[in-house]
Amino acid sequence: VRRATEALAAALGAEDCQAQSMPDASPTKWHLAHTTWFFETFVLAVHRRGYTALHPEHGYLYNSYYEAIGERVPRAERGRITRPSLDEVREYRAHVDRQLLDWLSGASAAELAAAAPVIETGLHHEQQHQELILTDVKHLLSLNPLKPVYRKPLAQARAAARDPGRRWISFPGGVVSIGQVPSAGFHFDNEAPRHERLLRPFRLASRLTTCREYLEFIADGGYATASLWLSDGWATVQARRWCAPLYWEEREGAWQQFTLAGLRPIDPDEPVTHVSYYEADAFARWAGARLAGEDEWECAAHGSPDGGNFVESGALHPLPAPDADGLQQMLGDTWEWTQSPYTPYPGYRPPAGALGEYNGKFMCNQLVLRGGSCATPASHIRASYRNFFYPDARWQFSGIRLAQDA
Ligand SMILES: [Fe+2]
Repeated sequence: VRRATEALAAALGAEDCQAQSMPDASPTKWHLAHTTWFFETFVLAVHRRGYTALHPEHGYLYNSYYEAIGERVPRAERGRITRPSLDEVREYRAHVDRQLLDWLSGASAAELAAAAPVIETGLHHEQQHQELILTDVKHLLSLNPLKPVYRKPLAQARAAARDPGRRWISFPGGVVSIGQVPSAGFHFDNEAPRHERLLRPFRLASRLTTCREYLEFIADGGYATASLWLSDGWATVQARRWCAPLYWEEREGAWQQFTLAGLRPIDPDEPVTHVSYYEADAFARWAGARLAGEDEWECAAHGSPDGGNFVESGALHPLPAPDADGLQQMLGDTWEWTQSPYTPYPGYRPPAGALGEYNGKFMCNQLVLRGGSCATPASHIRASYRNFFYPDARWQFSGIRLAQDA
């Protein structure tokens, strides 16, 4: 996991790693350091006797949001921290890795048992930041008039596929269980406790909404029709003058989009991505449908095929759906906005201590997204996984799957 993070940064220069394009996005250098600080603070400083932090200011520089740990650089000012240098941050990573491996090789069974859950959380945390490195770099590069290429796609095989068309797949509803089964391996605290929900019969679209369908919404005046939008969404569309997804631009009558491989024409067969919740909701209303509840989504995902277009495919962009039976693209390609508010499951209690701040304190005013994306590591995602963003966020690989009452 640690090496995979460094591989993502390997294509970037020191200037690329330094800049912060907006308050929501962090510099790559900060991601490299913050994920390291996590292991230093929550594993080494707690479990390795006599360990002292490499530098006393690292906590101030690299703490993200843990009030229990202390003060920190304001999120929007991370790009101003030009020292330590990128090379020094790489040395910090190597130092913490060495310290952790040294300690692991000599730790007792009891010490390992105590530290293992935090180390595992640290690895999954680092995978979350791997995805953020890609989405934050994409946002940064998109602002450059040269429209630079982060990396050419490694995989072209499925990119040549054509959209197989949308079908509706029916589910009977009833009393279903959602949430992670405790014995099923690692999960974040927000995926538990497992509990029952009562679902009405519903249908899900067999694949993600395509750019072709989204272009029809645009051409039909979707962005100019107030009746399609939630009040907050309509206000946002007007205030920010949205007329297309993030990274789309019209040049001489043809739509182009900025990707991690640079600017290129829209492929109508691909899933649409970089839409806000408001846009996903308005599109669904225009299409005579709605977004899924997270419980409907999870119930359906348990029977869907494994695999998907994750970061390992090297495409770094959503690809057209395979022409196959059943639900496609439930995992990978784009995160799927659900209409579910991000709130605690019944009986949820945040863990004690600073790591209780990891998920619990964000359970207000955000919407749940499911399924991972083309920037998510394959080993990071599962059917019960709950991601969450504010409804106006667009810089993640967020897309649309339609749902309907049956
Ligand atoms: Fe973090």
